[in-house]
Amino acid sequence: MIVRTSVDATPGGGEVGADSVVPPAEAVTPLVRGAAVLVELTEAGGTLSLSALERATGLARSTVDRITATLARMGYVRLDGRDAVLAPRVMELGNAYLAALRLPALLDERADALADELDESVSLAVSDRDGIRFIHQATRRRAMSLSFRIGDLLPAERTAPGPLFATEWTDTDWHRWRERRAADPQDRGFPAVPPRERPSRDEEFERAAARAGRDGFALDDQLIEPGLVAVSVPVRDPRTGRIACVASVVSHTSRHPAAGLRDTLLPRLRAAVDVMRDDLREAPAPEPGAGPMGLATWTGASKQELGREFVESLARGLTVLTAFGEGRAELTLTDVAKATGLARATARRALITYEHLGLVTRPTDRTFALTPRVLSLGFPPLSRTSLPQIATPHLTELAQRIQESTSLAVLVPSATGDAGRVGGTGSGPEIQYTARASTSRVMTVNIALGTRLPAYATSLGRVLLADLPAAQRDLGPLHALTSRTVTDPTALAYALEDVRAQGYALVDEELEAGLRSIAVPVRDRTGRVVAALNTAMHPARRTLEACLHDLLPELTATADRIQSDLHVAERFTHVALS
Ligand code: PHB
Repeated sequence: MIVRTSVDATPGGGEVGADSVVPPAEAVTPLVRGAAVLVELTEAGGTLSLSALERATGLARSTVDRITATLARMGYVRLDGRDAVLAPRVMELGNAYLAALRLPALLDERADALADELDESVSLAVSDRDGIRFIHQATRRRAMSLSFRIGDLLPAERTAPGPLFATEWTDTDWHRWRERRAADPQDRGFPAVPPRERPSRDEEFERAAARAGRDGFALDDQLIEPGLVAVSVPVRDPRTGRIACVASVVSHTSRHPAAGLRDTLLPRLRAAVDVMRDDLREAPAPEPGAGPMGLATWTGASKQELGREFVESLARGLTVLTAFGEGRAELTLTDVAKATGLARATARRALITYEHLGLVTRPTDRTFALTPRVLSLGFPPLSRTSLPQIATPHLTELAQRIQESTSLAVLVPSATGDAGRVGGTGSGPEIQYTARASTSRVMTVNIALGTRLPAYATSLGRVLLADLPAAQRDLGPLHALTSRTVTDPTALAYALEDVRAQGYALVDEELEAGLRSIAVPVRDRTGRVVAALNTAMHPARRTLEACLHDLLPELTATADRIQSDLHVAERFTHVALS
């Protein structure tokens, strides 16, 4: 961690350093420390032991314990033995910035379409002081090169967008850039890029910026690592003419030598950027809306429950960031106080703290706005999470509480042939297990991840099938797997309607004698059922009534937790379902 400005009270790493060494007198120390913990976890890839956090932040162990306990209460981290792990809900901080910025909502689909058209990765980046930060990635995964995540910060001079942004730099910006290069010649303050092996001369980037100003595009010829090349074009704000973000196509020398990028990819990138600019011009003004009210009112109850371990000023301060959002890009102190329910003086001190940390700016005397640096608070490591990853800690907790094994599954089209399929002879939709948690009991249902089963005879499958429009439910042949299996298509259709109406499926020894299971749906932000969650047991363990009475509320509560994490995570990133 180089370029740290204050060991005790400033988020570490080169990328978050406060403007001045000494925090202003009104800064909220627990908030500064909480931000430092989130930045260290982010730079470490999402997980650090509590003692490593203690070393990285320079904070006392008791302070680290209280901060992580508070972040855990907020759902921002998970405490897993001796480790603190970033949890999906922390993405609501980055989401607040991305929603306020609006560019992802307006441009992501165009970027994705261009990536499909070219079969190359496409990204959108904004300027973050003397660096660039990604706000969108449409990644074509390739074995050959590293790829960056939403929220990653790169040194401007090692990228194609950098020289374009530098065309708008002031003398102060150039000065800051030179100072940073002198203090950190190997780019150690940018954990997303490999350290620089040999120094580059300032003039090279100055010339690249001058060229970018003339040409209206810029190239990256293996500035980050051998083979990685990119071409970038600015997307200008139609109102101000200034660069709103930069769109890049990223490739590899094995497919596009850098010299060829100009002829091959640049014309298509330019055409896509023209359309993006039209999209920005035609976008209706964002709905101002009333905004959230009383975001921070829950903190008092947590304080009562957790006592000294809950740092209320940290929890309250963090909710200040979530007061911003779509149509709420610039807020006054009054707006922030209203949205959070905090006293004006408390909200003001939080905003001053954030300004000191470079997380908030003042576009005018009266207003505050989030900066791209908010993405350094946990976003990048979680931006590639998957539903099984999101669900696993919740499944484990549920399995411990109910002392039964729990599973998550998705619907897959039938496999050709019977390989990997238990109990099936015909074809039809199947479920596939994507996450599991088992208990230590001897008699436990044991199903390996990846196992496929016929959907019609399982509780998981019925929950997934019930969400499909009846016309799309091609169930295939229905075989009797036990004497109880429902094999009459009409009876099954009625059963699925019941599942749909009740919100759960209870299946009793239809797949296998001695196996009873109950499942509930997991829905995405649009309300579509994307997975199902269940528990299965021997019928002797619980009566059908006990399943409904004891297990169903537990399953529903767990599905709600998984859903709520999923909805935060998928707002601006693609969350893989398996
Ligand atoms: C990227 O999107 O990963 C990217 C963009 C521009 C560069 C390098 C990488 O110069």
